[in-house]
Amino acid sequence: MHQLHGNVALVTGAGAGIGQTVAHGLARAGAHVMLVDLAEGPLKAMCEQNPAFAYRCADVSQAQQMEACVQATQARFGGLDIAILNAGIEGAVTPITDYDEQTFDRVMAVNVRGVWLGLKYCIPAIAARGGGSIVITSSVAGLRGAENMSAYCASKHAVVGLMRTAANECAALNIRVNTVNPAPIDTRMMRALESGFAPDAPAAAKEQISQRIPLQRYGTPQEVADLMLFLAGPESRYCTGGTYTVDGGMSSR
Ligand SMILES: NC(=O)c1ccc[n+]([C@@H]2O[C@H](COP(=O)([O-])OP(=O)(O)OC[C@H]3O[C@@H](n4cnc5c(N)ncnc54)[C@H](O)[C@@H]3O)[C@@H](O)[C@H]2O)c1
Repeated sequence: MHQLHGNVALVTGAGAGIGQTVAHGLARAGAHVMLVDLAEGPLKAMCEQNPAFAYRCADVSQAQQMEACVQATQARFGGLDIAILNAGIEGAVTPITDYDEQTFDRVMAVNVRGVWLGLKYCIPAIAARGGGSIVITSSVAGLRGAENMSAYCASKHAVVGLMRTAANECAALNIRVNTVNPAPIDTRMMRALESGFAPDAPAAAKEQISQRIPLQRYGTPQEVADLMLFLAGPESRYCTGGTYTVDGGMSSR
């Protein structure tokens, strides 16, 4: 239950959805957690409820802001052992031929540069503690094509490459690096995508998407968080360089 007692974690995208859920799980497991997100409101509320949390508002695509988050974590909690690089945006639901260039660039900036900056600044901090674990949120869209979601799909493939590279670079530092690859999970992001796929009938879009999943339903943020907690903690000590699906069987089709 308290297997992460004494550990310090940083979670990006901690203000909602999967990131918020894993932050609560890390705290329940005994870790101190630095919450990072764009908006202050949810982070402040979480900190008021739980003294294991501290927060920092930041845009993960901005180098100085990410560096400051890692420094703030070290200053507040004395080091860093676990990084959950999870912040991400969905972009547009549009064929490549109509996809807006600025949207493409923003998706790549948040989902790819944001993860790369997280690695860049978290690796030395975790190495200074003698090792730890980094978990990156990719997607089933990081393992196969995703129609009308070119930027998102490219970004989620890209972070698998970053993960594999970091796993090799960091093995000697005793830092493990893995991705989780969820199928549709019941969060704000899926509401936005359902409206993107079927602006007039988002509920029907949800039904259609669910039918493409062998288990016939979306996952919950907790189901992803449980896998992240396994990869963050000591029970996964021989796991590095891996893509871990939590997808109701979707990627097996
Ligand atoms: N929901 C799904 O179906 C699903 C499936 C596979 C993968 N994912 C991935 O899981 C991760 C979390 O998604 P979610 O479903 O919880 O989404 P969400 O939209 O509920 O939460 C994402 C959080 O990230 C934050 N964020 C966005 N841009 C940021 C930035 N530039 N800097 C800092 N914070 C930023 C948002 O403010 C929000 O709090 C994302 O990387 C997403 O791509 C989600």
